Amino acid sequence: MSDDLFQRIPAAARALLKAVSNLAEKQGVVLYIVGGFVRDLKLGISSTDYDLVVVGDAVKLARALRKSYGGDLRVHKRFGTANWTVTSVKSNLVQTLQDFADEAINISELPELLDFVTARSESYTQPAALPKVQPGDMQADLARRDFTVNTFALPLSEAVSEILSVPEAQQDLDQGLIRVLHDQSFIDDPTRIFRAVRYEQRLGFEIEPHTLELLQAALPYIAELSGDRIRHELDHIILEVERIAILERLDDLGVLAAIDQDLVLNATVRAGLGRLPGDTENADMAYVTWLAYLPQEDIQRIAARLQFSTELTEASLAASKLKSDLPDLSEASPSQLVKCLEHVPDLALKAMTYVLEDANQKRLVENYLNDWVDIKARADGHTLKERGLEPGPRYKEILTTLRSAWLDGEVSTPEEEEVLLERLLND
Ligand code: CTP
Repeated sequence: MSDDLFQRIPAAARALLKAVSNLAEKQGVVLYIVGGFVRDLKLGISSTDYDLVVVGDAVKLARALRKSYGGDLRVHKRFGTANWTVTSVKSNLVQTLQDFADEAINISELPELLDFVTARSESYTQPAALPKVQPGDMQADLARRDFTVNTFALPLSEAVSEILSVPEAQQDLDQGLIRVLHDQSFIDDPTRIFRAVRYEQRLGFEIEPHTLELLQAALPYIAELSGDRIRHELDHIILEVERIAILERLDDLGVLAAIDQDLVLNATVRAGLGRLPGDTENADMAYVTWLAYLPQEDIQRIAARLQFSTELTEASLAASKLKSDLPDLSEASPSQLVKCLEHVPDLALKAMTYVLEDANQKRLVENYLNDWVDIKARADGHTLKERGLEPGPRYKEILTTLRSAWLDGEVSTPEEEEVLLERLLND
């Protein structure tokens, strides 16, 4: 085990990893923590992505852990992978793990989830298709990866001390370069185009010149990717703090246009996405904010290409419609506005508070969300029934008129509502 780097891991996570490596040793398998976690550890950035590679049966190891410590296990036998979630057993774990720790450990430093993968090699039979995988050794596992800086493997087994990586990894990390391992990389897996830009902008690195040439040459292969796989990459991107820088770079490189010719960035979109909270966890909100400036038919096409859920497609369409309708509503009364807004999905309304630049329009939507949505007449269907009104369309008309009167300030006390109700019933 390489002590220096290992010591940088928070104490509770270190104790958990020791418990895991203890079991791995009993099973006679060697275990590494790999990928972004080690890259970030070397850069002094904290990471919550505990990706563990087992040179041997990862599923068997994860099952033994669940048996010893509890928690929840999700196994993909066919891929030789498992995720072990410890959230539900954290308070027990923190006590049990104290034996593996050299200092008092803190529950908040325990990871939620460990990912276990069986070391494997991959072969691609077709561009942009998922690879064929077979068990392999650690070097083969590192050689299948996307970029040199993601190939570090820190051994967690006492018997092994050497950190593995491909040869250029440390130099590229020192120089801040994103470099593919071989010329076919982006063609085998065009999602790496998105990943390269995401890492470049997030880490303040640069895509190395030859890699950049390969990336640009591989743009036509984006068309071969399924909508789900592209959206999955975009999900990661729009939740990054650096989302605007990443999208700008993707736009400059022609990556967004390779998804759809009208999916470009402009000043309006940049401003809208800039108003989203930096640490938002709501990808759907970010998509609606991004797409609301587009005409309906462009949204339909992009939503179909990215395999949006029906809910997300509808919210994006509604936001775009509202954006074009709102300028005509600046003189409208509260009740007229409520009539327009009450059928708009909540997601679209909330996104409008980021989309809209005009302070007056924004205030209208905020008034609706914060106040008007809750304003209701006191009377309801039961009241009308008690007052002897025959069931029929009059019910809705009267209740709408009462609500409008409250919204527009024509009625402001229960007594005034009663007077109006009386009048309506007598009409
Ligand atoms: N990987 C890859 N090609 C992909 C996706 C992933 O080679 N298309 C490899 C990379 O080596 C990566 C590892 O799988 O380091 C884990 O992937 P992921 O969890 O997506 O990325 P992290 O490296 O953990 O990076 P981050 O969470 O910082 O985005």
